[in-house]
Amino acid sequence: MNLILMGPPGAGKGTQAERIVEKYEIPHISTGDMFRSAIKEGTQLGKEAKSYMDAGELVPDKVTIGIVRERLAKDDCKEGFLLDGFPRTIAQADALETILSDLGTTLDYVLYIDVDTEQLIERLTGRRVCPTCGATYHVKYNPPQVEGKCDHDGSDLIQRDDDKPETVRKRLEVSLENTQPLLNFYEDKGYLVTIDGDQDIDKVFQDVDQKLGGLA
Ligand code: AP5
Ligand code: ZN
Repeated sequence: MNLILMGPPGAGKGTQAERIVEKYEIPHISTGDMFRSAIKEGTQLGKEAKSYMDAGELVPDKVTIGIVRERLAKDDCKEGFLLDGFPRTIAQADALETILSDLGTTLDYVLYIDVDTEQLIERLTGRRVCPTCGATYHVKYNPPQVEGKCDHDGSDLIQRDDDKPETVRKRLEVSLENTQPLLNFYEDKGYLVTIDGDQDIDKVFQDVDQKLGGLA
């Protein structure tokens, strides 16, 4: 199954992606995660992406499209994939059409997780992540078993650099500007499925799973 997961910052894309890829056994391709790993490793890509991410702006299309093209060409994407956080602009959506057509495949669904803006701010400012395994928690909505420690490996949880209030505001603004044209684009193609993201994590996943037919 070839899927796109869309939604504003803090909608729960990463949280739902963890569950979707486990059940449907497809690779999770998050452009945000790819950029964060590149920054951690100090690569050229990381150096290029960092200033945009810290400012809450989008990384230029050319760079982003290049890494997605390379990733989708890998063998593990032949049986399906979940794109998380890509595309974010019409130029990226157009490029994705070309990439998929070159690979001889098409999309199945574009899942849009819809969440109220006030709720997004609370989710982002309360988010904590594991620097070792990438697991995501929330101080109130999804706390770890031991405060401040990852359930999987005991690492100290940290806050993402771009979850500072001023960066959060900018990210929400950028998302508001870019989302509607993309929703129209995928609605016209008949791929769009909107999910009510203002529910607890398990209920959101139940809805996603139901839309995808529950077929693993
Ligand atoms: P990216 O990493 O994609 O971040 P984002 O879109 O801002 O989304 P987030 O990761 O912040 O949120 P999420 O929806 O995954 O929510 P989560 O599950 O963590 O992008 C970061 C940056 O990279 C961009 O700003 C840009 O600079 C660059 N970039 C990335 N892709 C790009 C592209 N295509 N083009 C250009 N630039 C790009 O959940 C949030 C919190 O809420 C967590 O604490 C979680 O536990 C909690 N939570 C989740 N679901 C629920 C629920 N149902 N109820 C209560 N709490 C919940
Ligand atoms: Zn961990």
